Amino acid sequence: MYPITFKRDVSEDYFLLGIEAKHLTNFQPGQYAILQTTELSERIPLSILRVENDRVEFLVQKRGKSTLELYHSTEIFYVAGPLGKPFPLGVYGKVYMYGIDWGPASLYSVAKALKSLDNKVYLFVSGKYPPLEIVEDAFDKVSLSFEMPKDADLVVVAGKASELKDFVESLKGYPCIALSTAPILCGVGLCLSCRVYSEGKERLSCTDGPWFEASSLDWQSLTLRENLYVEEESLALEEYLKELRRRALREATS
Ligand code: FES
Repeated sequence: MYPITFKRDVSEDYFLLGIEAKHLTNFQPGQYAILQTTELSERIPLSILRVENDRVEFLVQKRGKSTLELYHSTEIFYVAGPLGKPFPLGVYGKVYMYGIDWGPASLYSVAKALKSLDNKVYLFVSGKYPPLEIVEDAFDKVSLSFEMPKDADLVVVAGKASELKDFVESLKGYPCIALSTAPILCGVGLCLSCRVYSEGKERLSCTDGPWFEASSLDWQSLTLRENLYVEEESLALEEYLKELRRRALREATS
């Protein structure tokens, strides 16, 4: 078991989570971990935000049964990682990053590393993004709306593919790296749930990604794949919320 050593609500939708997991402390920017709250829980792939004094931190959006279970827990059954290929760091110049909803949490470690290499890093957010004071130190400037890059040397996007697809298509001419949102379950190339098509070839988001050159991705199939378990997730959430209500009622009447 891995103890949760820190948990803080940062908004209605987001919480900061700190865990003791020594094997994650040497993560590289852009890598993720898989957390499984109990033996019966689903595995959750989460971008590693940072390491503070041996505490590994994640910025988590409460958006389903698994993340709510994590929110209510004091320890975690299984933690795997660091997983995935690190982001291709370099001296690019001006880097424009676009994050929808939880996107800024995945962009944070990459932005911090790029900034330390003297790149100018700008963040544009939309949707239900996390409180910006948690992530803004990694960026030179944060904007509350998507603007087309004017002079970007690199564009990086993270968020739901269905919402980013048109934007990415409009970026023609700008080199762009995107975070795959295909469902990652095993993280080690066994279950094939995270398949995407890149340059016409099948690639695994968990081990070949999660970062891919955006123009090489088949966004149509990625959009379909990211919604593969939407129905099951919504049923699981419904059941979990019922269970929480039952628990609250038992506590109130005991
Ligand atoms: S998550 Fe199982 S193969 Fe990629």
